[in-house]
Amino acid sequence: MSEIDSKVEPQSSFLEDLKETLRRGKTIDGYDYNVKKRYYEPAPESSYGEEFRQVVESRRSVRKFTDRKIPKDVLDACLDLALLAPSSCNLQPWEFHVVQSPEKKQKLVEACMSQNAATTAAELIVVVARTKNWPEIAKLNIDQWPQEKIPKHWKDFYTKGVKFTYWQGPLHSIGAIKKAVTSVAGLFRPMPRGPFTKSDMRVWAIKSVALAAENLMLAFRAYGFDSCPMEGMDENRVRKLLDLPRDAEVVMVVGAGERAKDGVYFPRVKFDRKNFVRYV
Ligand SMILES: Cc1cc2nc3c(=O)[nH]c(=O)nc-3n(C[C@H](O)[C@H](O)[C@H](O)COP(=O)(O)O)c2cc1C
Repeated sequence: MSEIDSKVEPQSSFLEDLKETLRRGKTIDGYDYNVKKRYYEPAPESSYGEEFRQVVESRRSVRKFTDRKIPKDVLDACLDLALLAPSSCNLQPWEFHVVQSPEKKQKLVEACMSQNAATTAAELIVVVARTKNWPEIAKLNIDQWPQEKIPKHWKDFYTKGVKFTYWQGPLHSIGAIKKAVTSVAGLFRPMPRGPFTKSDMRVWAIKSVALAAENLMLAFRAYGFDSCPMEGMDENRVRKLLDLPRDAEVVMVVGAGERAKDGVYFPRVKFDRKNFVRYV
């Protein structure tokens, strides 16, 4: 692998592409997107199917990495791509703890049962889901609105709507009431069936965080590095090591680095689409 392959190149990114599409779109159909009341973001014209297929197909869980470090700009670029994952109500309930201090890393390797994927990884990233930091992220959604004027429905949602949806009250008492009301009202009309309980909130957060973890692993692959997701670890020890708050869930530890020639232990074993896909 040459140095060039893993450099973060400022070439035509999705965003650049989008800007270009918007710029040209304005002259092609004569529509002034700036006067449109609602935000407008057409699909980019390019398609990336083949490159994406190569990234997805070549990602494997790698259990043995070389000694090569991941350049800081590549690591940051991959983390930034992870953060672009979709999340429920844009509440981004994720944290990525990049464990680099040698003492902490050693302890983390032990917490990962000293699996090869952990002992040889250039970087170990603990992917965490937060179930109770949504009020802070809701506030960021208001404070960091990217345009001059924040739409009323956006502000209302992140001040009142999220509280209504995610605040479950002391000992989840409000959640229990919401659940009871929903089960009756839901007989008559479609209703969201949660989250109402502590475990609902875990599932809620972990769904979004797992998407970000996959983005991270695909990003490493796209930049010429590899990864291994690990849930084979002692969550209590990881929590203690990172001094995580009570609402934090350790979703997985991602080991990353350059794939050793013998770093993939098994051929890919996948099953036919008909086992998993239903057209109904
Ligand atoms: C949530 C999750 C946890 C995993 N935990 C481990 C692990 O602790 N150790 C490991 O070697 N692989 C782990 N894996 C990797 C799987 O074994 C691997 O994804 C699967 O065998 C398919 O292989 P592939 O990723 O190369 O396609 C995990 C994968 C996922 C999604």
